[in-house]
Amino acid sequence: MDKFKITGGTPLKGTIHVSGSKNAALPLMAASILGDGPSILRNIPRLNDIYTFNNVMRVTGTRVDFKEQENTIEIDPTNLSYPESPYELVRKMRASFYMLGALLAKNGYAKVSLPGGCAWGPRPVDLHIEGLKAFGAEIEMDKGYVIAKRPKDGLPGGEYRLNPSSVGATVNLLLAASMAKGTCIIKNAAKEPDVVQLCDFLVKMGAIINGVGTSTLTIQGVPRLAGAEFDNAPDRIEAGTYMIAGAMHPESEIELLNVSAEDLGIFPQWLEKTGVQLQMNGNRISVKAPELIKPVSIITEIYPGFPTDLQAQWAALMTQAQGESQVTDTIYPDRFSYVPEMNRLGASIKVRNNTAVINGKSNLEGTSVMSTDLRASVSLVMAAMVAEGESDVLRIYHLDRGYEKLEDKLKGIGANIERVEQGE
Ligand code: UD1
Repeated sequence: MDKFKITGGTPLKGTIHVSGSKNAALPLMAASILGDGPSILRNIPRLNDIYTFNNVMRVTGTRVDFKEQENTIEIDPTNLSYPESPYELVRKMRASFYMLGALLAKNGYAKVSLPGGCAWGPRPVDLHIEGLKAFGAEIEMDKGYVIAKRPKDGLPGGEYRLNPSSVGATVNLLLAASMAKGTCIIKNAAKEPDVVQLCDFLVKMGAIINGVGTSTLTIQGVPRLAGAEFDNAPDRIEAGTYMIAGAMHPESEIELLNVSAEDLGIFPQWLEKTGVQLQMNGNRISVKAPELIKPVSIITEIYPGFPTDLQAQWAALMTQAQGESQVTDTIYPDRFSYVPEMNRLGASIKVRNNTAVINGKSNLEGTSVMSTDLRASVSLVMAAMVAEGESDVLRIYHLDRGYEKLEDKLKGIGANIERVEQGE
C-alpha cells in the first residue's frame, strides 16, 4: 500500500492537462457491449476503476484491448457468451452494475451482483430495478444477485419516473431501452454531461433517443446497434478539483488544458464568488487565487448545480476562507468522512445533519491523515498542500481509482508531493 508525503506551503504555478472523464467513460464502455462489432473509445483515463470495468467485461467473453499509451480502448462483444458479473468485481466498483442494463439488452438475460453499500452510507439501486420492471423486464433476487430477463421478442417498453433523479439508474435504463421492442420513457432523467454523452454515443451506434439533455428521455428501441468510435469528454470533476487547488494559496496561478467549461455547470460561478479570477478560453481555463478567500456556502444539487463530487474539495478551500461557510450535501447526506481527518490537520469543521460548518481561516499543520473515499482523499491532499510542514496521506489507493497521475500533475505545478510505500 502507498501513501503520499506532502510538504505544504508552496504556491501552485503552471499547466495541468485534464484527463478523460472516469464517470463518463464507464457508461460508454458498458454501451459498447451492445454493438454487433467492435467500438473504439478515445481519451480513456488510466485508472483503477477503468481496469476493474475492463475485467468485468472480460468475464462475459467480451474482448477488451486497452492501448494505455494512447488512452484508447477497443471493445469487441462479438464472443460475449457469459452474461454475468460476479460479486468479487462488482463490490470493487458500483458502476459495474451498468452491466445489468447492458447484458439484458444484448443477451436477454443478465445476472449481476448487487453492489452493496459504500464508504459514505447506503447507495441503493432500487430505481434501476423498478425502472427495468416498468419497461417489462422480469427481475428476481438470488443470494445477493439480481437476475433480469426479458420476454423472447424483446423488452415491451413503458414509462418510469426516477425519484430522485439518478445518474446510474438513467444509464442502466438507457442501455436496456436502446434495444427494447417498444418505446421506453424515462422521466426525471439525469441531465449530467455523462448521460448526455452516453446518449450521443448510443445514437452514433444507431439508437433512437429523443429529449437528449432534458429530463424526459424517449427511447424507441431498435433490434441491433453497430459498434462506433467516440471521443470521451474531459473529466469535469478532475478539472474542478484542480481549479479549487489552484485557489488555495494566495500566490497560486495555474492553467488547465483539455477542459469543457460547459460541463462544469454553475461551478465556476461559485468559485468566482470566493474572489478567484477565472479566464475561460475554448478548452482552457486559467485560475488565479485571491489574496483573501471569501467564505461561500454551497448546497450540492444535480447538474448543472454544485456537484456532490466537489463538496469535500470545497470544504478544504473554505478552511482557508476568512469566516464561516457551510457545505450542505443534498445528494449524499452522509458524505462527510473527511471532516475528522481535516480537523486533525487543524481545520475547524462541525457536521450538523447533512451540513458541514467550516470556520476559517485555519492555519493548518502537517500530520498523518487517512483517506476514506475518492473525493475525501483528494480533499485531504489539498489541505495538506497548504498546511505548514509535512503530512502523510495514508491509503491513497482510493485516489488511484479516480485521478490519473495525480502526483505527477501536482508536482508539475510545484507541489511537494511524493508517493512512498506506506508499510503497516
Ligand atoms: C454517480 C457518480 C458519483 C456521483 C453521483 C452523483 C459514477 C460512476 N458515479 O453515482 O461519482 O457522486 O453520480 O452525482 O458516475 N438513488 C436511489 N436509488 C437508486 C439510485 C440512486 O435512491 O436506485 C439516490 C442516491 O442514494 C442519491 C441519488 O439517488 O441520493 C443520486 O445518486 P446517483 O445519481 O444514482 O449516483 P450514482 O449514479 O451512484
